[in-house]
Amino acid sequence: LTPDPLKQNENIRCLTTLSHFGFECLPTQLVNRSIHKGFSFNILCVGETGLGKTTLINTLFNTNLKENKSSHFYSKVGLKVKTYELQERNIPLKLTVVKTVGYGDQINKEASYQPVIDYLDAQFEAYLQEELKIKRSLIDYHDSRIHVCLYFIAPTGHSLKSLDLLTMKSIDRKVNIIPLIAKADALSKSDLQTFKSNIMSELITNGIQLYQFSTDDDEATAQVNTGLLPFAVVGSMEEVKVGKRMVRGRHYPWGVLQVENENHCDFVKLRDLLLCTNMEDLKEQTHNQHYECYRSNRLQKLGFTDVGPDNQPVSFQEMYEAKRKEFHDQCQREEEELKQTFMQRVKEKEATFKDAEKELQDKFEHLKRIQQEEILKLEEERRKLEEEIIDFYKTKAASETSQTQACTNVKKE
Ligand code: GTP
Repeated sequence: LTPDPLKQNENIRCLTTLSHFGFECLPTQLVNRSIHKGFSFNILCVGETGLGKTTLINTLFNTNLKENKSSHFYSKVGLKVKTYELQERNIPLKLTVVKTVGYGDQINKEASYQPVIDYLDAQFEAYLQEELKIKRSLIDYHDSRIHVCLYFIAPTGHSLKSLDLLTMKSIDRKVNIIPLIAKADALSKSDLQTFKSNIMSELITNGIQLYQFSTDDDEATAQVNTGLLPFAVVGSMEEVKVGKRMVRGRHYPWGVLQVENENHCDFVKLRDLLLCTNMEDLKEQTHNQHYECYRSNRLQKLGFTDVGPDNQPVSFQEMYEAKRKEFHDQCQREEEELKQTFMQRVKEKEATFKDAEKELQDKFEHLKRIQQEEILKLEEERRKLEEEIIDFYKTKAASETSQTQACTNVKKE
């Protein structure tokens, strides 16, 4: 065993094994485990209706992920989420494709990108909630965080639309963006080059962060790939005869555009990047960069921090206790406030009731007085009537007596 001179300064001794131990098989173990577990990949396609999103995904995976055409008349932007189980040889891939619906079709485009932001955040939040559970099952958790956003740019040959810039700007810290010039067969070779450089300079001017190609394997390749952005793509599931071969392409009166011909478009480069060389890196960047950013913002908003005001690390236990105390105090404050408000309300209600009661009492007294006066008046009238009746009877009796007297006098005469 020989010590490595380069590592002498560190506390670790680097030893070269003289016989076979078996840990050289670690990569094989990893491969077997990964194959057993299966792979998953989540793609978000953002682009105007009819820009060829479905066709491109079908072309990428050489399969027909059946889709109905979307209408241009949705009142707001929506997202269509579909998960497919694919298999290449014995490698299973769980592919989730999220596609915008009605994007850019509304007159007011301000709210067009909000559903996309909400969707990205919702997937991060779901993962965070799973992570924070006491009994968590991240191994069989279906991770729906988006690994790559294919942003479809309309082949105008001019410049980016404000909606493109706004959307990319608002999601560039949440997802790996790869811009694509959709239906690139609509542009001539020279127009395409100018359009590409216009787009890139607009993206740089507006500070939009695109997916950074990994430089782990080969820095030169990474630079070449970055230089290709935005990829000019053409999609087609049509088989066209070129010479004696059948190729996937688009047939025009003047010739055939071969989708998989690197001189015709960047489709193959995009496919290699997504599926052969950078899929794991896209997933890693999603987890290490975008999710970490979401997680730390979210935890900071909840009041968590790694260092205290004195710049000393804070233990989770201390933080938990502090948060608990803060929460308890806040609950007590709120309870006290609620009690005060309640008492105040009760007092106000009591005063209102008392006023109402007094008003009723006064009304009652007033009515009682009126009633008594009425009774007195009636009694007076009754008394008067009774007197009148007595007078009447008296007068009647007197007139009867005088009548009888008069009759008697007449008879006598
Ligand atoms: P929605 O789901 O309705 O938003 O549409 P989409 O963006 O998924 O577009 P889709 O793949 O349905 O394609 C719309 C039309 O464009 C179809 O007629 C395709 O054949 C055509 N198309 C797709 N890709 C290309 C392309 O690269 N070049 C050209 N010229 N046409 C294309």
